Amino acid sequence: MENDVSKVLLTEAEIRAGLKRLAGELTVEYRGSDLAVVAVLHGSCVFVSDLIRLLPIPLTLEFLACGSYGEGTVSSGEVRLTFIPGAENFAGRRVLLVDDILDTGRTLLRVREALRARGAADVKTCVFLDKPSRRVVPIRSDFRGFEIEDVFVVGYGLDFAGRYRNLPYLAALKPEIYAARQPAPEPRG
Ligand code: IMP
Ligand code: MG
Repeated sequence: MENDVSKVLLTEAEIRAGLKRLAGELTVEYRGSDLAVVAVLHGSCVFVSDLIRLLPIPLTLEFLACGSYGEGTVSSGEVRLTFIPGAENFAGRRVLLVDDILDTGRTLLRVREALRARGAADVKTCVFLDKPSRRVVPIRSDFRGFEIEDVFVVGYGLDFAGRYRNLPYLAALKPEIYAARQPAPEPRG
């Protein structure tokens, strides 16, 4: 697995420092609230697990899942919710929607709308990574760990073709790894 890495973009220590800063911001925002954290599977699993352990406030944790219509290299762009927690888990409460990366923005925009429509009192977003140059829909994250350039990344929960989520740091893969597997990376959760 490590042999497939071309470059480490964020080390474990850098990630830890970024999360501490982020947790400080979230603690200021949510101290005294009844917080419902809702995380998008699967990419946010590592991030949300580390993040909630840095938040000294009462919270509940739920997960939701998305898929996009269409197969192959070109996504149709339509985001479908394949699993959403029952509204009783967040209705009337402050919700923090957590995802691994804000890329085109379609996922977060769609999911934020769905949570609002189902009665969340307030929905703010928190992403581990932000790739602003890739945005196609108008959304900004309220909280974010790191801004990165337009490069496909893996590790710390993010996958290529389902693999590499367990790398403890953030990395780019060697070009031949992407090339060896056709079609080209279609981001999945
Ligand atoms: P969106 O384009 O903002 O809707 O992002 C959709 C999903 O694509 C994200 O939640 C990630 O799971 C995935 N994704 C986007 N960019 C990358 C990347 O560089 N590496 C791995 N997954 C990615
Ligand atoms: Mg994801």
